[in-house]
Amino acid sequence: MAAAPEVTGSRIGHPMSTLRIEGGHRLSGSVAVSGAKNSALKLMAASLLAGGRTVLTNVPRIADVFTMIEVLRHVGATVAFEADVMTIDASGELRSEAPYELVSRMRASGNVLGPLLARQGHCRVAMPGGCNIGSRGIDLHEQALGRMGASFHFDRGYLEGVAPVLAGKRIVLEYPSRGATENVLTAATLARGRTVIDNAAREPDIVDLAEFLNQMGARVTGAGTSTIAIEGVESLTPATYRVPSDPIEAGSLALAVLATRGEAELIGARAQDLDVFGGKLADTGARWGATERGIGVSMRRRPVAVDFATLPYPGFPTDLQAPMIAYLCTAEGTSIVTENVFESRFAHVAELVRMGADVRLEGQQAVVRRVPRLEGAPVRAHDLRGGVGLIIAALSADGPSEVREMHHVERGYEDLPAKLRSLGAEVEATWGDDEVWMDLPQVSTTRDTP
Ligand code: EPZ
Repeated sequence: MAAAPEVTGSRIGHPMSTLRIEGGHRLSGSVAVSGAKNSALKLMAASLLAGGRTVLTNVPRIADVFTMIEVLRHVGATVAFEADVMTIDASGELRSEAPYELVSRMRASGNVLGPLLARQGHCRVAMPGGCNIGSRGIDLHEQALGRMGASFHFDRGYLEGVAPVLAGKRIVLEYPSRGATENVLTAATLARGRTVIDNAAREPDIVDLAEFLNQMGARVTGAGTSTIAIEGVESLTPATYRVPSDPIEAGSLALAVLATRGEAELIGARAQDLDVFGGKLADTGARWGATERGIGVSMRRRPVAVDFATLPYPGFPTDLQAPMIAYLCTAEGTSIVTENVFESRFAHVAELVRMGADVRLEGQQAVVRRVPRLEGAPVRAHDLRGGVGLIIAALSADGPSEVREMHHVERGYEDLPAKLRSLGAEVEATWGDDEVWMDLPQVSTTRDTP
């Protein structure tokens, strides 16, 4: 087993290049689920709304979090990150820019748009462009903030916004975009008067963001429903907040266990974040249920095929579409999977076919037919969740596999090889030669992420 490179001082580590997996080991035991990527990133961005020291705990040590640290530092905040505790000090003058180099690496960098507009009255955020899962516009963010008084123009690849005064308005989102809901929500906390967001996104990370903002002194009600109301306040003060556990990591680990016909408890996971997903697993014949410490899952036989369609929360999460397809490859019958959220989120399918899967793409649908077993093969991750789908397939396949381009997976999963090993998987990671450095003198951990 290759040793993970050690992190000392400001060296963060090397990006992981390949995960070798010897398939066919049944996973069992218990494993702790890390803090949620998609909550941590939003809470970090929202900390810019208050001058002073915000403390976030249970922050996952993943590549996207390190990218957001770079964004916050670029803007002028001071960030310390030790073990899972992050301190963000956004007092003093801030720059209102998220540069292309960072936004193109991670779209969630655009989550500083709302906080910067609200606090600075100005922002300049690089247009994210397309990514491996679709074109992903920001027109909804722009329209909604425009209604509140911001004016935008494009300048050499950047969206530049000016809002000397932001005024509360009723905003009806055309689609319940998470990012647009978050940017309007954060901007509205310091706007004049009352903002109401109709057709708002309802994901658990929106609820966390609203709770965090309320602890900072904001007045937000209705988060978690499709109507969120925000009464603007004069200023916000820093807060301390614990990042909740990651529902997508929990779902991914559950599928890894079930695909190997195993049994495990996911410590800290919240079953209520994954009701529709859990229901689908039960329809395949798996056991899924809340325990005192998290979620318990088990599967002893071949799953039964199920159809599902991805939808905004509380629907089936698009982020678990690829992992679920991997699990369904050997299910009895035919599953029809419809991807409604992103236009091209099926890059993993061609790789699964290399492992012997029978999956056909028809527009936005994947038709998954039973094969007796998957066979190990070298495959390539094209994006974060697709990469995890391939790992799940490889864990259940006959023989060895190699999942390449693991840097995609490291964006969102903390210590995945170690977690899988703790459940009995035979996996070995190799790291690339390029070291990643970051000036983070307070980091004293010897961990090997991002
Ligand atoms: C969030 O992305 C998540 N990212 C994604 O997680 C997740 O897949 C997605 O929500 C859907 O649940 C973070 O939370 C950091 P959206 P976001 O705005 O906010 C279109 C992962 O693997 N749209 O709800 O960007 C857009 O193109 C990921 O962790 C517009 O057309 O998602 C997409 O088709 C990747 N115009 C759909 O809406 C807009 O202005 C959903 O986007 C905004 C969005």
